Amino acid sequence: MKSLKWLWQYISPYKRRLFLALGLTLTNAILSNIRPYITGLIVDGVFRGGNFDILIPLVLAFIATIVFKDIFRICDHYMLEDTSQIVIMNIRRDLYSSMQQQDFTYFDKNRTGDIMTKMSADVEGIRHFVAWVINSAFESAVLFISALLIMGYINWKLTLCLFLVTPVIGIIAFRQTKSVHPVFHNIRQSLSRLNTVVQENISGNRVVKAFTRESYEIEKFKAANLEYKNANIEGSKVWRKYVPLLDSMANSLNVIILIAGGILTIRGDMTVGELVTFNSLSWALNTPMRNVGWLINDSLRTITSLEKVKEMVEERPKIYTKEEYITKDRIKGKVEFRNVSFSYGDTLVLDNISFTANCGESVAIIGATGSGKSTLISLISRFYDVTEGEILIDDINIKEYNLKKLRQNISMAMQDVFLFSDTIEGNISYGVPDASFNDVEEVAKAADAHDFIVEMTEGYDTIVGERGVGLSGGQKQRIALARALLSDSPILILDDTTSSVDVETEHYIQQTLKQYAKNKTTFIIAHRISSVKDCDQILVLDKGRIVERGTHEELLAKGGYYKKIYDIQQGNLDKVTA
Ligand SMILES: Nc1ncnc2c1ncn2[C@@H]1O[C@H](COP(=O)(O)OP(=O)(O)O)[C@@H](O)[C@H]1O
Ligand SMILES: [Mg+2]
Repeated sequence: MKSLKWLWQYISPYKRRLFLALGLTLTNAILSNIRPYITGLIVDGVFRGGNFDILIPLVLAFIATIVFKDIFRICDHYMLEDTSQIVIMNIRRDLYSSMQQQDFTYFDKNRTGDIMTKMSADVEGIRHFVAWVINSAFESAVLFISALLIMGYINWKLTLCLFLVTPVIGIIAFRQTKSVHPVFHNIRQSLSRLNTVVQENISGNRVVKAFTRESYEIEKFKAANLEYKNANIEGSKVWRKYVPLLDSMANSLNVIILIAGGILTIRGDMTVGELVTFNSLSWALNTPMRNVGWLINDSLRTITSLEKVKEMVEERPKIYTKEEYITKDRIKGKVEFRNVSFSYGDTLVLDNISFTANCGESVAIIGATGSGKSTLISLISRFYDVTEGEILIDDINIKEYNLKKLRQNISMAMQDVFLFSDTIEGNISYGVPDASFNDVEEVAKAADAHDFIVEMTEGYDTIVGERGVGLSGGQKQRIALARALLSDSPILILDDTTSSVDVETEHYIQQTLKQYAKNKTTFIIAHRISSVKDCDQILVLDKGRIVERGTHEELLAKGGYYKKIYDIQQGNLDKVTA
């Protein structure tokens, strides 16, 4: 019920149109029920009473009900379709903006396939409900009630006999509702799993092919596909159990009319015309009874979708700007970690990290993969919030800043490069859309990307595929670096940005970086000692702890992990084993 109330806030701005459509449906249903009444009048008045004068007006009235019904139905259809499309467009809009607000944790937990199911199948289910189910339910109710009223007016005894069936319908409908809800939940889950398999295989098609795991993936899909089919069959089993019952209840009405109506007519309590009216009206009782099953099915399906969509729209990010935040357009760039610990769920990844990077200083972080380097720098932008301790920028806790302003002051080239399917220029200027072409070209030169870009057929206008398909790993990294350099922020973070470029290119980038990062507080994560040796401060991370710190010379003198890496990279293997 809560989810229906939630849906109403999307419908209510267009309620006039919806009510107008329902008004037309009401008129239509009544017109449908007047027709049998007119038929009854013709039978009794004309055929049995011999009053031919009323034949023409009655036939005209009969035709008029048909014509109006058709016109109303077209208008009805148009209004409902229109309203439902607007309603789901707004729901989709809110779903999408909610998605944009979510933080990293949300995307860690929710699969793309599931989010896509919400944006497509669930939303479509809601449209069907608004455009069709609401109206059909209303139409059925009006048909049923108005038929009963007309019948009651003609002959209350026979109406009472028909009325006996209604409690049975109520019981069946109630039981169907109870058993079908969990089934739909299952169907919904399986669809989302199916979508996830498809989506992962599209993104990961290269890995699948490289490891020739096509048949494994096909089996995986088969399993998900089978599960979805089975879930749907379970759904139809519930349907098969209850709908025939509702159908036979509906058919029993005709039997009651024939037997009880027949007796009443023979006894002279009813005219033949009235019996004919009853018989024709039985359709108006029958149809809603048959529809009850469908309507319950579709409504519960919608409620399952609504619950999912509502949950996502209402999901609030855990990381947000405090109500009273510090407004500071540009920060200076001093970064301090004070006893910072961080866990993903229960897994401790960073343990009591403390260090200070003064304005304009460069800090290198090295350490084995999985030691927590990327996690550490992602805390500066508040992609995750620290579990313990605090991070300060310009001596102010980062939680005190406006989140967007904070992030605008940090430029970052992330470890796993993502490029949009856009031009190279568009990708580089992503963070600064109004940057001039000269600026774009300048940072591309600094990142040593200019040369390979101009060699491409369309140069800076070359469109790269999804995720940057069509570029080598090192080329993608250089575009990501150019993108980070373009937004001229006081803090620059480069996470493994030169890992895929050759040593010569790396050297070139190092030199230009010196120029670019001169006044910036820079964090460099790298594996090559050559990338970090000139940094003001080098932190060596091991299993989430800082195990060594100092300058290149200091660390070499210490003779620990850093020295070992240095020797390996210098080729002094005899020293390493010694
Ligand atoms: N989003 C995540 N959810 C859970 N665990 C994660 C996540 N990202 C990284 N980890 C784990 O945290 C540890 C540190 O990862 P990371 O910071 O990426 O290390 P590094 O950058 O040094 O290679 C690893 O053990 C990794 O498995
Ligand atoms: Mg990393």
